[in-house]
Amino acid sequence: MPAVPLIIDTDTGSDDAVALLLAAAGGLGDIRAVTTVAGNVPVGTGTRNALISLETAGRTDIPVHPGCARPMTRPLSSAQQVHGEDGMGDIGLPDPTAAGHGTHAVEVLLSRPREHPGELTLVTLAPLTNIAAALLRDPALFTRYRHVYCMAGAADLRGNIAPTAEFNVWADPEAARIVTQAATPEKVTWIGWDVSRQDAVMTEADQRRLERLGTPMATFAHRINRTVADWARDVTGLAGYDLPDPVAMAVALRPGLVVEREQAYVEISVGDDTRGQMIIDRRVSAPAPNLTLVRRVDETGFKELLFDTLATPVAPHTGSGAATATPRIGPSS
Ligand code: BDR
Ligand code: CA
Repeated sequence: MPAVPLIIDTDTGSDDAVALLLAAAGGLGDIRAVTTVAGNVPVGTGTRNALISLETAGRTDIPVHPGCARPMTRPLSSAQQVHGEDGMGDIGLPDPTAAGHGTHAVEVLLSRPREHPGELTLVTLAPLTNIAAALLRDPALFTRYRHVYCMAGAADLRGNIAPTAEFNVWADPEAARIVTQAATPEKVTWIGWDVSRQDAVMTEADQRRLERLGTPMATFAHRINRTVADWARDVTGLAGYDLPDPVAMAVALRPGLVVEREQAYVEISVGDDTRGQMIIDRRVSAPAPNLTLVRRVDETGFKELLFDTLATPVAPHTGSGAATATPRIGPSS
């Protein structure tokens, strides 16, 4: 199967980083551009982390475009308490060799699908600020992509950052609302935190397996998720840390992993008490569905894809602009 041509929008923290490895290193993805946005960390830090992650996969040739520095109408509430002050587990990663690209993320999100109509898949792993800003300029934006996959929401209303809300939607609910209003279920699929919580938890045994792989990518993935593991134990109560962005990326790369999905009409709450909550109308009288919601994924298939990808040695990319791949695993802690 040909690799899926991708644009990836990310607020690169530790799970985004693993998603980038999955897309960059396994042969299933063909990343044309990465765009960054404020979310887990400020946008400059997320850009740095995206560059480090791509370098870990041997892909310094992929451009990373910094985007919006704050949500549409609210101040940034980051998730540094989850992913670490640097978003990558605070393990002292060295700086990347490459730098962010001068073209703004929103310009890239608008122009690339016009240059390649119907060809590109957009995967969003972050608050939807960049995407909403692009939609305000081009309301037909989603029709220009082959498909849009978003790690967003919690369709069972069990939240991570708030009782009923998932972080990416909660962080910029006004942007998420613009996205749902522009979406159709044929073009836009959300993979929510409910999927991550059920089908993408790295148990103790999974963590040991990752550690044992011993490749630069596996070691990197293991070490940067250190603080998320603490958060999962203390706050969400999972049997390990979850990987929301990697499981969303896996669905985009291999849609056959989905075992349950539904189409529904979804609105987003911007109210104080229910900020970022999905309002899902499943009544027979509901408006026509606007989203496809992935509800369950083949856990074994997802993890095998993950382990297989991270087990591969880093192969320096041979395309133009490529640099030698450097394992980015920082000092031991
Ligand atoms: C989402 O929020 C972030 O903390 C993760 O990177 C993921 O995109 C999960 O709710
Ligand atoms: Ca993310």
